[in-house]
Amino acid sequence: MQIVRGIEELKEARKTLEGSVGFVPTMGALHHGHLELIKRSKSENDYTIVSIFVNPTQFLPGEDLDSYPRREEADRKICEIAGVDILFMPDSADIYGEDEVTLKAPSYLGYILEGSRRPGHFDGVVRVVMKLFGLTRPDRAYFGKKDAQQLVILQKMVDDLFLPLQIVPVETVREDDGLALSSRNLYLTPQERQKALVISRSLKRASRLVMAGELRSETIKEMMYKMMEEIEVEYVEIVDRAFRPLDRVEIKNTIILVAARVGKTRLIDNIWL
Ligand code: PAF
Repeated sequence: MQIVRGIEELKEARKTLEGSVGFVPTMGALHHGHLELIKRSKSENDYTIVSIFVNPTQFLPGEDLDSYPRREEADRKICEIAGVDILFMPDSADIYGEDEVTLKAPSYLGYILEGSRRPGHFDGVVRVVMKLFGLTRPDRAYFGKKDAQQLVILQKMVDDLFLPLQIVPVETVREDDGLALSSRNLYLTPQERQKALVISRSLKRASRLVMAGELRSETIKEMMYKMMEEIEVEYVEIVDRAFRPLDRVEIKNTIILVAARVGKTRLIDNIWL
């Protein structure tokens, strides 16, 4: 595995790759969810590039940029064992310059739900991902369905800008007890972790309700809020694949989303129906 930090070094390394390239952008603190993305990329491409960059432009003032888990040594080993070809670990000064041309997230998709709680977050995401795509020039890029809104926005970016690559959505990986894997789970105390389980349980219950024929969004949301009374729920939303709110679940075109705080940790999860 080649470890690359500088932009020129990456460009040189990229030039040597003849064949298809899969790209897995990450912010590090790698877990099994990331491993799934890497595995999928390896199975579909000749080469796999992983980036680890805690992108400052997607954090709002007061968010966890400084405390975001950084585990460079462990991440390096994980990538090595997983068979990654190039691991790109730039510094912020390598990625960002002064008075740049920038991209913005779409005004609807980028500013509802996660975007309304974290205004500007998705501007930072599209900005960095576009740069990373420019550098790695992938044939396919892999993103988890857990960050559903991010995934839909990045798919739209690829469509709107006619980028010659495919976005590949990958299923959320969960612990045996249902907790969706996230680097931010590291912030949870054992008691908080236990409390957080109610999020995935409420999504599972919602999916069972739908399977039993209950399609009314209000009824499903009411049940979910009730189940999650013990934690601080920010929102439960039922939307279609373009993130338009749905009054009734549409099978194969629905995402049920939850954002909640457990202690100081903000968690998101969802289910695609
Ligand atoms: O999902 C993430 O880890 C980040 O938002 C991403 C896509 C790596 C951009 O910084």
